[in-house]
Amino acid sequence: MPDDHSYAQTSQSTPGRNTPEQSELPDSTDKDPSGMPTYAVELEGLTKVYQAAGNAEEKRALSSVDLKIPRGSIFGLLGPNGAGKSTLINILAGLVNKTSGSAKIWGHDIVDEMRPARMSIGVVPQELNFDPFFTPLELLELQAGLYGVPKSERRSEEILDVMGLTDKAKTYTRSLSGGMKRRLMVGKAMVHNPPVLVLDEPTAGVDIELRQQLWAYVRELNKRGTTILLTTHYLEEAEELCDEIAIINHGQVIACDTTQALLARIESKTLTLTLGEDLDSLPGSFTAFHVEQKSARELTFTYKSDDGQLAEILKAAHVAGLSILDLTTDQGDLEDIFLQLTRGAHNATA
Ligand SMILES: Nc1ncnc2c1ncn2[C@@H]1O[C@H](COP(=O)(O)OP(=O)(O)OP(=O)(O)O)[C@@H](O)[C@H]1O
Ligand SMILES: [Mg+2]
Repeated sequence: MPDDHSYAQTSQSTPGRNTPEQSELPDSTDKDPSGMPTYAVELEGLTKVYQAAGNAEEKRALSSVDLKIPRGSIFGLLGPNGAGKSTLINILAGLVNKTSGSAKIWGHDIVDEMRPARMSIGVVPQELNFDPFFTPLELLELQAGLYGVPKSERRSEEILDVMGLTDKAKTYTRSLSGGMKRRLMVGKAMVHNPPVLVLDEPTAGVDIELRQQLWAYVRELNKRGTTILLTTHYLEEAEELCDEIAIINHGQVIACDTTQALLARIESKTLTLTLGEDLDSLPGSFTAFHVEQKSARELTFTYKSDDGQLAEILKAAHVAGLSILDLTTDQGDLEDIFLQLTRGAHNATA
């Protein structure tokens, strides 16, 4: 990852227009003693119905979504294709009009206080959206101009440096690689130094190394106080990166919790025993358990994580006189929870 340090220093000496410290807030009870909002984003009953057009029928993409995204968090928005994630993000970005409900960004209502709300957020959209005949430097300058950032406060070169694009600053963006274009998109969302950064599938189609770099950078930004909202289909990534996660399906929030609490919902775990000698048949003491013999020397138990069965399994193995060479447990992961919840909701609506 490029050296972020210079960026941190410079951005402190020339603060952007909407650093968390600077942003003016309306009178609201949702402020903590620092004067900053408790929630970076607050949605209440947010609903979006896309009108019927041509052959396409009316589509309810979001249905009364309530969501509070704590200031300073990395918040993950997960859900299957078509769940409504981009719709939600595009409403925050001002690209899609909501049908009803309300949304606040950094304490500002997106309709009544559109300008400060827009200035408080930077959005990296799912689709690449820049003119291939501009250079990265020109694009950043143009974007800063759109946001009304005065020349003296612009940080285009610094952002290019952070994004590792300095040597491409003056080449046509069409000649950048896909991963470089993604980084430029992130840079573009940051020109006005917003306290909230939204990333819609930023690492789709990006190689593993670059993905790691991007996430390291997201973490770094977050450490410096930026609240991050991201959507991703890489559940492993969400599990590793996000403090809180909302799962959305058919336009509704079906789970919203800390990543830890979500993982604690996993009901069953597996235990695999590797034995020192071949086992012809299962010992009688194992009949009480859900067990499968995978090979002559391998047994896999599935057990409920919360009722002390693990100790009983080990006791039974001991009683049966088995020599155990190795033992592994699989806790399950976010993917299990995701499938459990989205399948459940699908069945419920079917
Ligand atoms: N401009 C539009 N006009 C009509 N319907 C739309 C429009 N944009 C999205 N939709 C519909 O709204 C629903 C939600 O779409 P959205 O793009 O928000 O999903 P998503 O969760 O971002 O999916 P993905 O994971 O594939 O990016 C889908 O059924 C989609 O077809
Ligand atoms: Mg999307």
